[in-house]
Amino acid sequence: MGICHSLFGYQCRLTSKAVIRVLSGIQPSGDLHVGNYLGAIQAWLQDQHEFDAFFTIVDLHAITVEHSPELLRANTLKLAMTLLAAGLDPEICTIFVQSHVSAHAELSWILECTATYGELSRMTQFKDKGKSNDSIRAGLFTYPALMAADILLYQAERVPVGEDQRQHLELTRDLAIRFNTKYGETFTIPQATIPPLGARVMDLAHPTAKMSKSSKSPAGTLFILDSPDEISKKVSRAVTDTENSVRFDPVNQPGVSNLIDLYCAATGESPVEVASRHTMYGELKKSVADALIALLKPVQDRYSEFCKDPAEVSRILKLGALKAGEVANPTLIAAKTNIGLVTP
Ligand code: TRP
Repeated sequence: MGICHSLFGYQCRLTSKAVIRVLSGIQPSGDLHVGNYLGAIQAWLQDQHEFDAFFTIVDLHAITVEHSPELLRANTLKLAMTLLAAGLDPEICTIFVQSHVSAHAELSWILECTATYGELSRMTQFKDKGKSNDSIRAGLFTYPALMAADILLYQAERVPVGEDQRQHLELTRDLAIRFNTKYGETFTIPQATIPPLGARVMDLAHPTAKMSKSSKSPAGTLFILDSPDEISKKVSRAVTDTENSVRFDPVNQPGVSNLIDLYCAATGESPVEVASRHTMYGELKKSVADALIALLKPVQDRYSEFCKDPAEVSRILKLGALKAGEVANPTLIAAKTNIGLVTP
């Protein structure tokens, strides 16, 4: 065992895993769906065993658009409980709420002062989200600097994110390189790691669009906490086609192929195997619903346990914030010193 410098024994913990740091974040902006679970969360569950992993619920990002304070509070706790129920283990990874570690907001300001107006204006997510909103918040514009702070504070090398976040990761790298060059070596340059399946879980009602929390069709989105009944209903109403043959052909049969994909992701089988075992759509749908119900049942059971013990959830999040602060605070001090702020 290595030397334990820290209160929580980071040095010791690291001897049993690769000393590669992973960080990812998720917004508490609505219930988690099966696309999140099979895409992002399952990759996180693996990462926690292989790397020194930090996962943060980014509540500060959630207030960059119109929101309800009550709902934000409820969603933050609900998300924490869902992640824990899904299997994130606070004994082997660090799970925390972004606003509990004030270094995020502080480093974000410093990075905003190194990013340019031009760079932030080119972010496609800002252009998309800003379009539909007359009174765009300044925080929506500077959102990528906060995301860069989330990552750079932890000297993270790997950042598992969806394809839609690739541009934000590129900006994070640019800001880190610029800071290091101008003010001295401060940050590790991170890399995006894009899980292969994340992009593939499609909306059941619109199988050419990704399953999404903000979808206009609740019928097409399977939530992790949906009851077995709701799952069966949604899957049985999933859009298919008139070909009447179960083949894995995402271009010509997107609905059927999405169902096959879901089945494979839930069971680990290959699309060809699944397609060869089913001939009727109804039969395929029944298999998919059963597989998803079986996959989600243990998560839902653990979720109910956490609901009964809010004190335990709050204890886990407090400990997570302390562990996160141990890594984030020294980076913040280095950044402040290097950029010329006088530290007390
Ligand atoms: N912007 C990310 C998203 O919407 C969430 C996020 C915030 C994040 N900070 C992060 C992801 C840091 C990875 C690392 O999905």
